[in-house]
Amino acid sequence: MVRKGLEWRSLVPECLRSSFIPKRPAAALEPKKKIKIVAKQSSFQRLSYSDVSNPASPLSPEDLSTSLVGSNLYVFTLAELRLITQGFSSGNFLGEGGFGPVHKGKVDDKLRPGLRAQPVAVKLLDLEGAQGHKEWLAEVIFLGQLRHPHLVKLIGYCCEEEQRTLVYEFMPRGSLENHLFKRFSASLPWLTRLKIAVGAAKGLQFLHEAEKPVIYRDFKASNILLDSDYTAKLSDFGLAKDGPEGDDTHVSTRVMGTQGYAAPEYVMTGHLTAKSDVYSFGVVLLEMLTGRRSVDKTRPSREQNLVDWARSSLNDPRKMARIIDPKLEGQYSPKAAHKAAQLAYQCLRHNPKSRPLMSAVVDTLDALLALTDDIPVAHFVYTAPTEAHLTKRQEDDHRDEAAKKSSSPARDKAAGRYDRRRRSVGVRSPKALTKFGFSDTSLRNKDYARVYQNAAAAARSHGAT
Ligand SMILES: Nc1ncnc2c1ncn2[C@@H]1O[C@H](COP(=O)(O)OP(=O)(O)OP(=O)(O)O)[C@@H](O)[C@H]1O
Ligand SMILES: [Mg+2]
Repeated sequence: MVRKGLEWRSLVPECLRSSFIPKRPAAALEPKKKIKIVAKQSSFQRLSYSDVSNPASPLSPEDLSTSLVGSNLYVFTLAELRLITQGFSSGNFLGEGGFGPVHKGKVDDKLRPGLRAQPVAVKLLDLEGAQGHKEWLAEVIFLGQLRHPHLVKLIGYCCEEEQRTLVYEFMPRGSLENHLFKRFSASLPWLTRLKIAVGAAKGLQFLHEAEKPVIYRDFKASNILLDSDYTAKLSDFGLAKDGPEGDDTHVSTRVMGTQGYAAPEYVMTGHLTAKSDVYSFGVVLLEMLTGRRSVDKTRPSREQNLVDWARSSLNDPRKMARIIDPKLEGQYSPKAAHKAAQLAYQCLRHNPKSRPLMSAVVDTLDALLALTDDIPVAHFVYTAPTEAHLTKRQEDDHRDEAAKKSSSPARDKAAGRYDRRRRSVGVRSPKALTKFGFSDTSLRNKDYARVYQNAAAAARSHGAT
């Protein structure tokens, strides 16, 4: 059953739908709407997602770029993106998530005035996939306007016919997920883990404390990207939500997110608060402490859910030592690990009100960076990675990924090798959803579809939007 009001069409302004190439010049737009947009920009207020996703006041692509004019976003053509990624070649393939494939590209200083030469990551919508325009628009609206050292920088976008693309700063060390869980990746040292935790926490704190607060809703290890010095930056704002305003304590929404990371009260009721992000932060902190995935179906049944397995050990230093990541080989501060475990425990509390604010999380973790005197002295020779090592490792990673995925409809089509028309935009087939245990076709992402069936039902019965 497709729920009325949840179809992509109802969420997307008319002129930004799949056939949205503007039929009228920007000057012909109704003056009322123009005034509204200009007023928002002149007061330097962040444009809300609801401002542009309201079907009653559709925005043209020109309006979108005008509205975001202060954000310094570049609008690229697909031909330009093809050029900088060498035709979305498999050699430049970085990986693929729910939105579509990601390729490395190289921008030179002649592409756009003011845009410096740099490597970029180009994320291309998979037109056959589960995500669509809505996620693209959320990314452009949120990440296009929010700037912070711990948020990945959106450089620009492309929107041609039905194709949607996002261009980001390139993050040389990829995602935290790859570092923690890839079988052959070297173990992240203790202090590097703490540095990443502090950085990611600062990113969330910034979102929660913004003038118009943002709930991130998809905090997980794969969405934490790492710069060359392991500075953590949050990516993927496709699920982000403007926080509650005025006296409201929460926003009601469809249950979306990723199994194992989403807060239980949100899963059960669809009520979303900043404390839902705090819970997800607790899960990632636990992943960093234990080196285990939030959900791991390959483990014995009582160990498959990380939070259930670890919770009772977090407040007891002796038990804690038993669950710490063996890949650390004892090279960590027991004092700091115990405090981090207690912090994870607090973030994972069932009652959202008992969870700490992200500002408190940042303060606690920051202090742990100084606890180094009880880290055992290691007897090994450390070779600092050089630029050449890094490049080699990226090349190896790219080769692995490319071998796994030698062809992708989105990449092939963008490269001009593929000409199948897209039949529907972002609505998953009922058959595919049934495979994931869902009867509701409004849940559109393969990951999000993994969120528990009863949760979606509960959210529906609460009249979530
Ligand atoms: N800015 C970037 N710089 C370098 N690599 C990136 C960048 N953005 C994404 N990647 C890589 O591309 C891959 C896919 O990322 P993407 O965010 O699309 O999917 P995901 O996070 O794995 O899944 P999900 O759709 O659930 O978010 C990841 O392996 C990530 O490391
Ligand atoms: Mg991601």
